[in-house]
Amino acid sequence: MTITPVLSTKSLGLAYRDRWLVRDLALTVSSGDLVAVEGRNGAGKTTLLRTLLGLRQPQRGTIARMVHWQIGENVGFVPQDSLSTLLPWFTAAENVLVGLLNLRPDTHSCAERPHVDQLARQLIGASFTGNVIAGVESLFGSRPVDSLSGGEQQKLVVLRTVLALPSVLVLDEPYRELDYGAAVAFRDYLTGFVDRGGAVVMVSHQDIGPGPTVRVNLQPEGVTTCLRIAS
Ligand SMILES: Nc1ncnc2c1ncn2[C@@H]1O[C@H](COP(=O)(O)OP(=O)(O)OP(=O)(O)O)[C@@H](O)[C@H]1O
Ligand SMILES: [Mg+2]
Repeated sequence: MTITPVLSTKSLGLAYRDRWLVRDLALTVSSGDLVAVEGRNGAGKTTLLRTLLGLRQPQRGTIARMVHWQIGENVGFVPQDSLSTLLPWFTAAENVLVGLLNLRPDTHSCAERPHVDQLARQLIGASFTGNVIAGVESLFGSRPVDSLSGGEQQKLVVLRTVLALPSVLVLDEPYRELDYGAAVAFRDYLTGFVDRGGAVVMVSHQDIGPGPTVRVNLQPEGVTTCLRIAS
């Protein structure tokens, strides 16, 4: 596999007012990398991910993205408040497909829109995603998405993210809400994703894996260590 850089930061500094979360980060993310962003609550992990995505500007330094990053297309993003990104008036299948198709509910009743389920099943079957999340298809049906449990909703967010076939995944606590079996299924998907040349930047408080190739550790006072792990 040819290793190609997808993003690199130079002297990156992140702060809110006079509090520095990151003072000086040099990070290169390449195809096949899994970057684990670590640190205690409030250390700045979410802020770093959002900055790498271009959703906020750094206070210092530069970020070079080798290709244009388009969230929902070549870059998949599972935010920390992922469940709030689901559209409550859409069904499960419609939420999964919403970024791929220009969906407009044509009736007010979810029960009258079952045709989208079939489409979602076909797309899952035809894609690389395979068994990304065990049992997710059982969630399809006529119920509006806000009647599903928290873990069921998180499964849909994850499926929606990977179904767009991104080359980069930015994941902020993606295992949150998932039961162990679902988390392991997604972990196995991520292992295959980086093996195929995808790049992942991930925050996770659960030690499920996959094992990182780079560890970025955010410590107090904006001290950051960035360690590439030899394979
Ligand atoms: N808009 C803001 N203005 C001022 N401070 C903020 C703002 N947003 C976040 N912060 C603070 O910046 C710090 C870093 O927040 P961030 O959400 O990046 O932490 P985190 O490492 O992701 O934490 P957690 O593990 O709890 O998710 C926190 O102390 C937070 O209170
Ligand atoms: Mg966070």
